[in-house]
Parts: sequence; C-alpha cells; structure tokens
Amino acid sequence: MATVLVLNGPNLSRLGAREPEIYGRWDAERLRSAVTGWAAELGLSVQWHQSDDEAELVRLLHTAADDGTDVVINPAAFTHYSYALRDAAKQVTDAGGRLIEVHLSNPASREVFRHTSVIAGVASGTVAGFGAHSYRLALHALSDQGQDVDSIESSL
Ligand code: DQA
Repeated sequence: MATVLVLNGPNLSRLGAREPEIYGRWDAERLRSAVTGWAAELGLSVQWHQSDDEAELVRLLHTAADDGTDVVINPAAFTHYSYALRDAAKQVTDAGGRLIEVHLSNPASREVFRHTSVIAGVASGTVAGFGAHSYRLALHALSDQGQDVDSIESSL
C-alpha cells in the first residue's frame, strides 16, 4: 500500500474551535480519521503531521523528497509567504514525487493577502474550497484512479 504524507501547517490543530464558519466544525482528529479512511478506500496509507513550526515542515518535506513519497499539504498561512516551504516542496516534485496543495477554504475568494500562494508554482496541483473534501479529492488524484485520469488526458 503506497504511503502519502499529509502535512498540515500552523493553526490547523485548532480546527473546530477556529472560525468554524470558514474551516468547518470538524476538529483536527475528526479530519485525520476521515482522511485516513478515505485514503484506505483508495488503497493508500496516510502519514499525518500537523506542525506550527516551519522548520519541522521543511524537514518532513526533505524526507519525502529523499524517500519519493507523495505529499498532500495544507500549508495554512505559510502558503502565502514561506519561500522556505516552497523550496522544500520543489525538492519533492524535482525528485519525481507529486505534491498537492490543499485548502479547506477557497483563499482566492478571501482577503487579498490569501490570493498569493508561493507553493502553487511548485505543486503538482491545488484543491481548495471544498472543506475536508479538498483532502479527499487530492488523495483521489494520487490514487490509481487519479492516474487513469492523467493518462486519459494525455491521450486526448
Ligand atoms: C487555509 C487557508 C489559509 O489562508 C489559512 O491561513 C489557513 C487555512 C485553508 O485550509 O483554507 O490557516 O490553508
């Protein structure tokens, strides 16, 4: 069973309590268990991390690059300004892994500072605005079913 590293950035431990009208009512544990279950249905196993620490997220991305592990990342506020995270994310895709940026909300429809993602340019793709289902869609893209869609596209 392939492993996917699911990384969550700062403040995402506060889900449920933090702006539930934007981020939903599920707490982080509920999200982790749903994402793990969806992954299992797709034949994927999840390594889940949440950190408020940029350096720890960078280190985890280095390990993913070295191991060739695919990544789903919600960089949270780091999305908008962390060049360190961007450079680490690029190493994952440069090494041949796939990295999907996810957001619970749709940053493009929120404050202007959220309209910039410094991660998007080095990601394989981005899913935003579908709450917990953003993670599900990202996992789907990484699963065999997702690869089938890629091969259909490339044959068009
Ligand atoms: C977020 C959007 C970011 O702008 C914000 O800083 C977050 C969460 C999301 O999942 O919608 O912390 O990444």
